[in-house]
Amino acid sequence: MDIKYLNLQKITESFQPELDEALQRVVRKGWFLGGDETRAFEAEFAAFCGSDHCLGVANGLDALYLALRSLKYLEGWADGDEVIVPAYTFIASVEAVSRAQLMPILCDVREDDFLIDCDRLESLITPRTRAIMPVHLFGKVADMERITALAGRNGLRVVEDCAQAHGAFDARGRRAGASGDVAAFSFYPGKNLGALGDGGALVTRRKDVIDYARMMANYGMSVKYVHDVEGINSRLDELQAAALRVKLRRLDADNSRRQELARLYETEISNERVVLPTRQDPLGVRSVYHIFPVLCAEREQLQRHLAEGGVQTQIHYPIPPHKQATFAALNRLTFEVAERLAHEQLSLPLNPSMNEEEVKYIIQLINTFVC
Ligand SMILES: Cc1ncc(COP(=O)(O)O)c(C=O)c1O
Repeated sequence: MDIKYLNLQKITESFQPELDEALQRVVRKGWFLGGDETRAFEAEFAAFCGSDHCLGVANGLDALYLALRSLKYLEGWADGDEVIVPAYTFIASVEAVSRAQLMPILCDVREDDFLIDCDRLESLITPRTRAIMPVHLFGKVADMERITALAGRNGLRVVEDCAQAHGAFDARGRRAGASGDVAAFSFYPGKNLGALGDGGALVTRRKDVIDYARMMANYGMSVKYVHDVEGINSRLDELQAAALRVKLRRLDADNSRRQELARLYETEISNERVVLPTRQDPLGVRSVYHIFPVLCAEREQLQRHLAEGGVQTQIHYPIPPHKQATFAALNRLTFEVAERLAHEQLSLPLNPSMNEEEVKYIIQLINTFVC
């Protein structure tokens, strides 16, 4: 067997011929930025998320940055004000905070689902805290009921990093992106909803936030060629919007397929060296399995064993943000769970283009792993 971690060619083929038709439609029309496709996608994606407004932007990092910059302006935050972010996430979550001239305050994550540990949140709140940024890592929504209640009691805003959780529901049946003040999505090609290149979006119920973010994303321009603030250029183009509209129609079905395949992993992997955190589900929340993580103290040996059997895996993430050279000021900090996950986490292949035979083959390889 030869099982790639992610076979984007196969996934993309499965959207034909609709994808080609959508792209041809844009090319024939000859309108590539700020047109009907982007507007239609924004409306469809806001509705899908159970929210009111959506702004398509160039990537997920810009979406997070624009969300923070908009709140910073509208709420009168100062440079250096604090935003609480999980200590175990992709670097972009933390980078967006520092790029907005705010201070990332890291919070360790829970061992059983890798999400921000609400038990530790309260003690991190200071007079300068302005927002909490839960990251719905690997496809699972953080405890939004507790986070929004805590934020409400302390006058804080909530920015959801939904880059890995398109279409996921929380314990109350709300979609990722529907509970916070603003939510940011990435449409990087490998995401559950992936573009044919870069893309991202902000989703919010707040008209003031979407208006400010739209202006910021368009060179800070309020009226044509009138620039009120120093903005950026961050656009979702018409070709990407058209492709995303095709893929959005199948997102719930694709997420269900991921859940079916994940259930096979969860019920059939039985090797005491390999821990499956997703088996326990303390909040009853179902992941949309952007990533299927296992933990193994002998991770490198397990990765080699799978590679020898023709199975490609990945590590998310080998170095947590606070140990990265780019965040030198954070390097002295210690986050026990985040650091253990960085040493033990391994991502198994899981996506809607896989079949049960492939998943069962991987399970059998894992169950025969010894070291
Ligand atoms: C948790 C998280 N946040 C933010 C991003 C940033 O998205 P992009 O790569 O589109 O800028 C990613 C993308 O990989 C991510 O996984």
